[in-house]
Amino acid sequence: MRPPVEAIAQLSIFVGAIALLIFIGVEAALIYAAWRYRESRMAGPAPQIHGNRTLEIAWTAIPLLILAVVFVLMLGTMREIGGSVAAGSSPGPLRVTAKGYQWWWEYRYPGNVLAVNEMHIPVGTPIDVDLESGDVIHSFWVPGLSGKTDMIPGRINHLRLYASKPGVYEGACAEFCGVEHAWMRIRVVAEDPGTFQTWLDGQAKNASGAASRGQQVFAANVCVSCHTIRGANAGGQAGPDLTHLASRATLAAGVLPNDARSLRAWIADPQRYKPGALMPLVPLSDADLDALVEYLGSLR
Ligand code: CUA
Repeated sequence: MRPPVEAIAQLSIFVGAIALLIFIGVEAALIYAAWRYRESRMAGPAPQIHGNRTLEIAWTAIPLLILAVVFVLMLGTMREIGGSVAAGSSPGPLRVTAKGYQWWWEYRYPGNVLAVNEMHIPVGTPIDVDLESGDVIHSFWVPGLSGKTDMIPGRINHLRLYASKPGVYEGACAEFCGVEHAWMRIRVVAEDPGTFQTWLDGQAKNASGAASRGQQVFAANVCVSCHTIRGANAGGQAGPDLTHLASRATLAAGVLPNDARSLRAWIADPQRYKPGALMPLVPLSDADLDALVEYLGSLR
């Protein structure tokens, strides 16, 4: 199969070439007519003519034909890049559910493996993505991998991703969804199937790390009522799952790099970095904050 981006590119080039040919033809006819019938060559006003059946039919039929061809090709491309609709209809592709929230992403892999804000995919494998929304309309768009498709509350849309080369593919939410719409960055890491499997197995596990003071701080504060940390008795559903927080490259869907300093700054005042985000400022002592950052930083 062709990667979706290639299918889109080929269609764009084809349509662009037709448009270019029409442009050249029309401009050439225009310039020729302006030169051929210039005033100095004409004696008196030009003869007025009305109606030419052959011409009328030709300039109706030709554009109709061109648009019909483009329409059919476009439908074919949409089908090709849309992903398969029915679960299990094609055994090959990996099926992932991507869900948009204000303002972060959740990815669900087969076996109910959950990942947040950072999607990993194996190279050379078609990925069928089911697109859902947890609140308002978002739009999933990774230009290097596929076209853009809306995530609409109450329905499931479909999209196919395919990476032929390993790398990090950046994307963003493409439908205005509130004040932090611009900070709904998508990060897709395409890697060889072995590395992908290792990552997937890692995400499937419960949280690492022994009980610590930071974990107590987490459990004793409001953190626990919004966030899940599997294996650590934290099951909040309102915010992103933090079970493997430290395995991600960024915080807050791309706002900050994921290091201890940024994590501390983020928890100390989320509204400073992402105004409007649902995460509140939780007053913590410096010692508690340090312990919490150390604990969260250990969740690989
Ligand atoms: Cu989500 Cu814009």
